Amino acid sequence: MRTDTGQVFHLEDYKPTDFLIPETHLDFCLRPERTVVRSTLQIKRRNGVAADAPLILDGDELKLVDIRIDGTVLGDNAYVATPDRLEIRGLPENGTFTLEITTEVNPTTNRQLTGLYRSSDVYCTQCEAEGFRRITYFLDRPDMLSVYTVRIEAERSEAPLLLSNGNPKDKGTLTNGRHFAVWHDPHPKPAYLFALVAGDLGVITDTFTTASGRHIDLGIYVEHGKEPRALYAMDALKRSMKWDEDVFGREYDLDVFNVVAVSDFNMGAMENKGLNVFNDKYVLADPDTATDTDYAGIEAVIAHEYFHNWTGNRITCRDWFQLCLKEGLTVYRDHEFSADMRSRAVKRIAEVKGLKAHQFPEDAGPLAHPVRPRQFREINNFYTSTVYEKGSEVVRMIRTILGPDLFRKGMDLYFERHDGDAATIEDFIKVFEDASGEDLSQFALWYDQAGTPNLAITYDYDQATKTFEIEIEQSLKPTPGQTSKKPMHIPVQFALLGAKGRELKPRSAKGGLVKGDVIHLRKRKERFSFSGISERPVPSLLRGFSAPVTLTSELTRSDLAFLARNDGDEVTRWQALTQLLNAKLTSNSKRVRGGKPATIENSSIKLLGEIAFNATLDEAFRALCLSIPSESDIARELGANIDPDAILGSRDALISAVAEAHAEKFAQAYNELEQKGSFKPDAAGAGRRALRNVLLDYLSVAESSSKRAAAQFKNADNMTDRAAALGVLVQRFGDSEATNHALQAFEARFGNDPLVMDKWFVVQAMQPGNGALDKVRELMTHKLFSLDNPNRTRALIGAFSSGNQTGFNRADGRGYKFFAETILTIDKKNPQLAARLLTAMRSWRSFEPVRREHARESLATIAMETGLSADVRDIVERTLA
Ligand code: PHE
Ligand code: ZN
Repeated sequence: MRTDTGQVFHLEDYKPTDFLIPETHLDFCLRPERTVVRSTLQIKRRNGVAADAPLILDGDELKLVDIRIDGTVLGDNAYVATPDRLEIRGLPENGTFTLEITTEVNPTTNRQLTGLYRSSDVYCTQCEAEGFRRITYFLDRPDMLSVYTVRIEAERSEAPLLLSNGNPKDKGTLTNGRHFAVWHDPHPKPAYLFALVAGDLGVITDTFTTASGRHIDLGIYVEHGKEPRALYAMDALKRSMKWDEDVFGREYDLDVFNVVAVSDFNMGAMENKGLNVFNDKYVLADPDTATDTDYAGIEAVIAHEYFHNWTGNRITCRDWFQLCLKEGLTVYRDHEFSADMRSRAVKRIAEVKGLKAHQFPEDAGPLAHPVRPRQFREINNFYTSTVYEKGSEVVRMIRTILGPDLFRKGMDLYFERHDGDAATIEDFIKVFEDASGEDLSQFALWYDQAGTPNLAITYDYDQATKTFEIEIEQSLKPTPGQTSKKPMHIPVQFALLGAKGRELKPRSAKGGLVKGDVIHLRKRKERFSFSGISERPVPSLLRGFSAPVTLTSELTRSDLAFLARNDGDEVTRWQALTQLLNAKLTSNSKRVRGGKPATIENSSIKLLGEIAFNATLDEAFRALCLSIPSESDIARELGANIDPDAILGSRDALISAVAEAHAEKFAQAYNELEQKGSFKPDAAGAGRRALRNVLLDYLSVAESSSKRAAAQFKNADNMTDRAAALGVLVQRFGDSEATNHALQAFEARFGNDPLVMDKWFVVQAMQPGNGALDKVRELMTHKLFSLDNPNRTRALIGAFSSGNQTGFNRADGRGYKFFAETILTIDKKNPQLAARLLTAMRSWRSFEPVRREHARESLATIAMETGLSADVRDIVERTLA
């Protein structure tokens, strides 16, 4: 395990390597506990580098077996090899030579799941960010591009399937039951994109014909027997390939594209060139075992990894500080893909909800960092919501600022100019400046300044001159390492709405820059004045969520209600409703905390009823509106002195009031929405189910009865409805007979299917209140539970710590204590996973003083531990700082 060395890496220190590795040959002799890797590297010293410069390669827990230069074994004093470093001196004068390195690794004992490891007896690799150095010594950095040829040899009975990147070149049988395959990838790539898979797997195959008529063989490899569950992923893959041709003009570039699903995986999936490796959660689905959310996730992740082929693989990152260059851009692309496949507005609202739930708290807490960080201790800790989701928002803003045509022109230039490069954010911004002639230097601050800007908005209407004036003031709080901030270029998409939501078109705009429906805020404080506005308008601001900011505006409750009823932009419409509800939910939380009952006003109840029954709105949108902001949404709005029990009380009071007021009509709608015909995982079907399932929760509350949920659970013919009913049972009827009965039935039916059982662990980990902790402890002893498996661990420990507000953040601090112990256990096996889970405590300072002190103590316990991994050490110290 890599423990903390205290070393901090800085963007400013970037230097190209002294040597190049134009060609890499890898020869794997696979054995479960003793795999031998022979790496043959063609090495060239760069021009201008001194002839006595040493070659220093990265390693991590490596065991060197043999080392040769140009075929000659190196003498002991020609090199120094430690597990994490290989230094060679006295290299051939002319600087061009062949280096042969043999290492030995143990895939079976590798529980970190980086480098070469075994997952359910399948050999697989995970090399991003720095896993390749756990396989062999190498210049393991993303700017070191090399052409790879890989030979894999293994026991045929154990591993009939032998896969690597690129195209298949050769295969054959050896003696002793062994066989081999050779793969060649003609596209130079960094080591983090290397992959190997060997094992015994089932497959579904298909083909795709590119726009230029090339035939690509597609394969998705899964556990035997699960092949039918990969069909949706295959369909999503073909749609992704087509979409990237249609929307970005990007074709696939190898003869084969393979996807392998494995059950032990730290992240969602990995874009290895021509051989994507996936967490099986993002491949396997059928109506009986997967929810609509699972289907949407599969579609998005399949697309994401496929899109990386151009944005990440053909154009990669110069260094890991540029991570958002591939991730932000690729998330943007997968968001657009999903929007085109489904409802754009609903998709956008889901993105906004996700951003606010995950990225905003990151930006507001001790782990805040810029989209492009300038320093890190452990790169694994920067695969964050800020790099990914805010990174995507930044790309979206470029498109909003330039418009679709110039954005596409810029993207085309990016591919043309940088194909085959390891590029930087500066390169990316430059292509848009060159394509458009615009100066984006101020805009570029979005990559450098951490934190979520707030826009304080005031406005005024002058009846006499028919002029509407808006003043916007931007502010950005200090974040770790950044005390003062500069004003940013913020695109605010807007409309001025007259009676019934009609858009009033200004005759002209004065003051700050306005182009079409976008206000370009560029100063700390700026005024924008619109003439020819015939009536007093209500402004609809930040349409489509055009920038990742928060707003404080003068909009009154009645303005917000007006927008919630009339805004033609569904995102601002949803936002207005949410703001209205949040105001009440937060003030009620404070009342409940003060020992007073919540107060609910009728206008919100009426408004929610109107939306619920408005047949002109799509069902998915109505479901989103009817989903009352979550406990953590309310906590985020409160920002400080948080008491999760009071929040739960406030939220439940609103749900009860809405449920009681509309019970009869909700029941009618619930019945009408019952699905007719067979399950389809499309947007329309998902929308109906989502709406019906929110109604189920309201009805169960109104009726104070578990009957309806129990019946839905029993009769459901798909996992979406089944899991929703189970959720209502556990959330609302805790340890009741009905709940226990359903949990047992679920286990009896799906007990052999770990992925499905994850839902069973999640739902129980989320049970509100003090009972959850004992439940979680008990479930850790369940035969299906294992801290070795990331999905299982996230399902139980992750859901509990980041999803159960009241159960985890107990006033007695026992939730935190348990969590700290568990993190220390996980850290010994899988540091990346432990560190990621630990971020659940990043908002500890926003709790009320008693919980805050308990949280601090538990974090301090972790920090005091000796031998922590570099990953956890970094997170815990930043969290406490
Ligand atoms: N690069 C992967 C993705 O975003 C994520 C990942 C990072 C996977 C590190 C594994 C390890 O698609
Ligand atoms: Zn990615």
